[in-house]
Amino acid sequence: MADGGLALPAGFLLGCASAAHQVEGGTDNDWSEWARQPGRIRDGSDAAVACDHWHRYPEDLQVLASLGQNAHRFSLEWSRIEPRPGDFDEAALAHYADVVACCRDLGMEPLVTLLHFTLPRWLTERGGVRAPEAPARFARYAAVCAERLGPSVEWWVTINEPNVQALMGYLTGEWPPGKASMPVAFAALRGLLRMHAGAATALRAVAARHERRARVSVAHHVRGLRPARPSSVMDRLACLPVDRLMNRWWPRACRSGRMLPPVGRGEKVAGAAGSLDWLGLNYYCDDTVRFAPRRPSQLFAQRFPDPRRQQSSFGWAIHAGGLTRVLHELWDEFRLPIVVTENGVADEADELRGRFLVEHVTAVARAAAAGVDVRGYLHWTAMDNFEWAEGYTKRFGLFAVDRDTLQRRPKPSAAVFARICAAGGVPADLLDAVPRLTSVASG
Ligand code: BGC
Repeated sequence: MADGGLALPAGFLLGCASAAHQVEGGTDNDWSEWARQPGRIRDGSDAAVACDHWHRYPEDLQVLASLGQNAHRFSLEWSRIEPRPGDFDEAALAHYADVVACCRDLGMEPLVTLLHFTLPRWLTERGGVRAPEAPARFARYAAVCAERLGPSVEWWVTINEPNVQALMGYLTGEWPPGKASMPVAFAALRGLLRMHAGAATALRAVAARHERRARVSVAHHVRGLRPARPSSVMDRLACLPVDRLMNRWWPRACRSGRMLPPVGRGEKVAGAAGSLDWLGLNYYCDDTVRFAPRRPSQLFAQRFPDPRRQQSSFGWAIHAGGLTRVLHELWDEFRLPIVVTENGVADEADELRGRFLVEHVTAVARAAAAGVDVRGYLHWTAMDNFEWAEGYTKRFGLFAVDRDTLQRRPKPSAAVFARICAAGGVPADLLDAVPRLTSVASG
């Protein structure tokens, strides 16, 4: 960059990511049901209104484009599109077609997620992601979406964070359906992999039939893991099973096309092999790991935030060097183009977000300069919204949303992101404003 700043590669995608249930309002799915059960959501709230983005999307998208964003990731709500099994709702599809058209008119590349945590209730009644019929149902839904939106959508995410959905819904039980068992979590992962494989096959088949391009991935959550005492062999060893299961299992299964151990026995999964054209990376933080002999259910690993780092209001340790490291690790192993499909910080007073943005976009630019094929950075998220079990208590937005009037108000960090978007990188004065930046890519 002429001013001494850090440039991102040409054509780099810069924007925000969101999810239907968290922003739209008016959704009716397994999470709506979950929120009705006492004690499930920290502040007793629900997503009935959320940000009313369902009605306000034209203005919301306009505002994002005016910040200079050239991309936008959002999810489709399956329960709206297929309210009853096999019954597809044309009005819902027309709505999402219009969202896509709005993005295009505003110069933003749409990246569309088919499933971001929420399931239609008719599917949960039949067993949710573990239902034998789930893969075929999800593939059919994917085909319908591809037929309708495919002319204007190239970038597809089949499933958002399948590893987190399995962990939170089936191992810790903090999310629906509230199960807490390792074998059940493995069964959920097997179901999710079959669903992804079916959807990837369907998206490509529709694209091929119409001679269109479909680039298919998942948004894969990766937690960087660091031994608490780097000199301790046991702490270093304790990182490995968690890394293998949380971070590597999914992309390895998609590369090999097999239900890899310990989740499966290596059996083939039709449509899974080579099902990722690119890798969507959701990165929030690293965890420090200490060997914990008395915690078999946690794979003998106690995970906690690095006490030397600043923490978000979620208690996640902030360290942009972790993002650089994860980008390198994924590139070295999988050699797939990467888009950072989520990265953000829970920060109620917007005290951390400006600096967080500068440091993390810098981390991405450094990885790109070192040869990692990274094509985009999508910040989580545009507006404060319904943060799952945390309700409205955690705020990840560049914009605050008044819970009474739903009025949007830009936070100071929105201007920082606008500068990054306008420059296509990190301008020199923003780099200078963050003294710790010199050490961002190291460690
Ligand atoms: C999810 C988002 C969530 C964010 C912050 C990601 O794991 O995809 O839906 O809001 O993290 O917790």
